[in-house]
Amino acid sequence: MWAAVGLLAIFLSTILVTAATDAVHPPSHMETVDPGTLANNLEFANPGLTVRPDGSTIVTVVAQMFSFAPDPIEVSANRPVTFRLTSPDVMHGFEIVGTNANAMVIPGYVSQFTVTFKNPGEYIIGCNEYCGLMHHNMVGKLIVREEPK
Ligand code: CUA
Repeated sequence: MWAAVGLLAIFLSTILVTAATDAVHPPSHMETVDPGTLANNLEFANPGLTVRPDGSTIVTVVAQMFSFAPDPIEVSANRPVTFRLTSPDVMHGFEIVGTNANAMVIPGYVSQFTVTFKNPGEYIIGCNEYCGLMHHNMVGKLIVREEPK
């Protein structure tokens, strides 16, 4: 039992130390952005899609109480899609239901990940971090189109 208590103490102190030293950030990506000036941010003022010459897509997403922008998001199947997400208000989640795309959206940081959707169709995007009274209404849609020939 004391070993378990010892582990708890270690885990708790790890959290406290990382919080105290400002080392809490999304695990995948370390890029900061000022959440107070997103409206003037070149990338995030107009969230949307950029298709690159190689067919891959960059999707810039702003998650805020209680919606995602853009919505819906429309991409092609079998092409790499890089999501870049941030929030101007509180922490949100960005989970594309039925896929392995799932990230935390943290004010002050850009969360980034790349996925390739194999199956065309419509997917629900859900916020899976409690963010306020209308959290349960914070849903978006992803449309995956057939790969262009
Ligand atoms: Cu946004 Cu819950």
